[in-house]
Amino acid sequence: MIDDSLRVSILSEALPYIQSFSGRKIVIKYGGSIMNDEKLKEAFFRDIALLSSVGVRPVIVHGGGPEINNWLNKLDISPKFKNGLRITDQKTMEIVEMVLMGRVNKQIVRGINKTGSLAVGISGVDGNLIQSRELGNGSHGLVGEVAKINPELLEPLIEKSYIPVISSIGSNADCISHNINADFAAGEISAAINAEKLILLTDTPGILKEKGNPNSLVKQINLKEAREFLEKNIVVNGMRPKTECCIRALAQGVRAAHIIDGRIEHSLLLEIFTNSGIGTMINA
Ligand SMILES: Nc1ncnc2c1ncn2[C@@H]1O[C@H](COP(=O)(O)OP(=O)(O)OP(=O)(O)O)[C@@H](O)[C@H]1O
Ligand SMILES: [Mg+2]
Repeated sequence: MIDDSLRVSILSEALPYIQSFSGRKIVIKYGGSIMNDEKLKEAFFRDIALLSSVGVRPVIVHGGGPEINNWLNKLDISPKFKNGLRITDQKTMEIVEMVLMGRVNKQIVRGINKTGSLAVGISGVDGNLIQSRELGNGSHGLVGEVAKINPELLEPLIEKSYIPVISSIGSNADCISHNINADFAAGEISAAINAEKLILLTDTPGILKEKGNPNSLVKQINLKEAREFLEKNIVVNGMRPKTECCIRALAQGVRAAHIIDGRIEHSLLLEIFTNSGIGTMINA
């Protein structure tokens, strides 16, 4: 436990950060890989509520990989991946929609509402928020990529201090739904709403130079170095879409992108309100 004087000095130190981010939008990707711990989830919801209370405008985009895999297994469908993206046939897509839009999205909304802040759960299909197209001519089945973000639906919500919670499903001109990697969806949304920051919460300390070695954490890199990490396959699997979407978001004007450890309680506040931060920060 910390004593009262330390508590108020920490609060006071956060003041310049609170002042500079107040009124700014921060897009947070909440990774499916960190949703299985109740205590962590509650801490995350409280962090979101705190950000919102001090005037920051959080927008959440969520994944749900492990929960989708759970349900696929129950139905004897084996999950398949290529370059960190889920190969999605028609049956898998039905489960993806049910799990993400129904179960995971509403769990997050309820968790935030419980803190006293108010969240609104939507998917990329609502208000045509995420217009999508098939990725690589159908190479991954019904996996889509973002063709365009129509952020009009988000603006009145953010304006009225509701916290949007977005499932990363998009739809194309024929109203066919696509499964979109939540990292990409978050990155494109952050660019479309001129967010100050894009923050990806996941289950590693950030980008590691050596697989599985937390001491090899990369604290800060620029766009060029991030591209080199992709070329040299230092980042693989689920870290590839993250690195790619950070690069795209930064190239479109987002000020900073962060990949942080969602397994650490209050990692979000540590990254936003302290000088050193805790994960990998990529800047333009
Ligand atoms: N260089 C690297 N540094 C750190 N992690 C890496 C690296 N290369 C690959 N990874 C992998 O990327 C994973 C994170 O991506 P993953 O898609 O599994 O999680 P998520 O995006 O948080 O969850 P979800 O996709 O369900 O939303 C890590 O657990 C790790 O295994
Ligand atoms: Mg992922």
